[in-house]
Amino acid sequence: MKSTIDKKKLYIDGEWRAGSSYQELRSPYSGEVIAEIPVAEVGDVESAIEAAYRARLTMRNLPAHARAGILERFVQKLSERSDEAAEIIALEAAKPIATAKGEVARTIATYKFAAEEAKRISGETIPFDAAVGGEGRVGYTVREPLGVIGAITPFNFPMNLVAHKVGPAIAAGNTIVLKPASQTPLSSYFVAELLEEAGLPKGALNVVTGSGKTVGDRIVTDERVNMVTFTGSPAVGIGIRNKAGLKKVTLELGSNSALIVDEGVNVSRIVDRAVMGAFAYQGQVCISLQRVYVHESKYDAFVEAFVEKTKSLNTGDPLHSETDVSALISEGDVERALSWIKEARNGGADIVVGGGSEGNVLEPTVILNARADMNVSCQEVFAPIVVINKFNSMEEAYDLVNDSNYGLQAGIYTDNVHTALEAADRLHVGGVLINDIPTFRVDHMPYGGVKESGTGREGIKYAVEEMTEMKLVVFNR
Ligand code: SIN
Repeated sequence: MKSTIDKKKLYIDGEWRAGSSYQELRSPYSGEVIAEIPVAEVGDVESAIEAAYRARLTMRNLPAHARAGILERFVQKLSERSDEAAEIIALEAAKPIATAKGEVARTIATYKFAAEEAKRISGETIPFDAAVGGEGRVGYTVREPLGVIGAITPFNFPMNLVAHKVGPAIAAGNTIVLKPASQTPLSSYFVAELLEEAGLPKGALNVVTGSGKTVGDRIVTDERVNMVTFTGSPAVGIGIRNKAGLKKVTLELGSNSALIVDEGVNVSRIVDRAVMGAFAYQGQVCISLQRVYVHESKYDAFVEAFVEKTKSLNTGDPLHSETDVSALISEGDVERALSWIKEARNGGADIVVGGGSEGNVLEPTVILNARADMNVSCQEVFAPIVVINKFNSMEEAYDLVNDSNYGLQAGIYTDNVHTALEAADRLHVGGVLINDIPTFRVDHMPYGGVKESGTGREGIKYAVEEMTEMKLVVFNR
């Protein structure tokens, strides 16, 4: 637990540098100070970008086996210190410890995939003689690293969503300037320590904590940065795209993910998983289950079982192994969620479980009969709130799911293979999960959305594609 109470330092050009000013970091659950975090100034960000820019040739020239070797050694080190890593996540993010352990396991898997992918980056040969005038040419494509990647990461998976940017960037031979979320910087500093020990060259990773204006804006607008990869809110994501000019931009934004439960489904077999999808990490997951549409023939049974299971969840301290649901990341988020619940209640919806809060812990909340235009339905709630409604035809169900500004993932439980195939075609999202909740993710699958859920894909192989440029080589014989 040592690294959770330190006065932290910025990590720039392979050195740990004190900040000129500091901010207290508090536990979202207890409010206690858990660390002091340096607030970077413009000069610090400039040094970090310059270091990453200088190191880009070193990284580009590292052979694939050496890049893979760094990632493999990192995996070894993180595996040895996985309990400490989980405690850091639990403390700074108020993520229940069992879930935090799951995040560390996934982080290890993500870097393993990155180590493997480093050795698989390749191109293709082109049949030039398919075109008139192409005779006598032989050629192939290669994928080259972009150079400097600016990574801006969210609070909700402070280790694994950093891994989804740092892992593929290293695998592809890039350098990184990382701005972690202000609420959860400790995980990033921990990862930087381990990558340094694993032999990552100086300047290849720089971790700069501070404000969006000083750090984020500089990363997004600096000409030496070739790509920005961001996970967070649509408002910030759209701002980044508008400022980034010709840089590549990958945006993983939010959602109000939906699940369809078709007639014929045995609801008792799916309810535990649906409750987990709605309330894991307090619903602060971009693919949390927020909207459930149940066929009218199964609606009562589903609601009864869902409510009963929700009532059995334990709320409290993230460091207690029995806790299922802990604090939201900030008091402001609790207030926002409470005001949306109030709006739903005042508008005629039924709050059948929860609806209140204690400290920053919002009770797991189930809402019936919420209208589609209420905030709990149409906005991303990022809180332990789920709305359940009924439908009577699949046409209606597809329309309800697609009636959203977002489109990250959607799920459908159905016993009918024709309905499954039709849903795969009709749902306008980045990923359709048949016979599962929309919350399913493993770390090598393509992950990303349509509409306000973003652009580009993560999942190591797909992130490596985003973080490399194709070059064509043609020999004239
Ligand atoms: C996210 O919140 O976008 C990430 C979800 C996950 O990795 O499970």
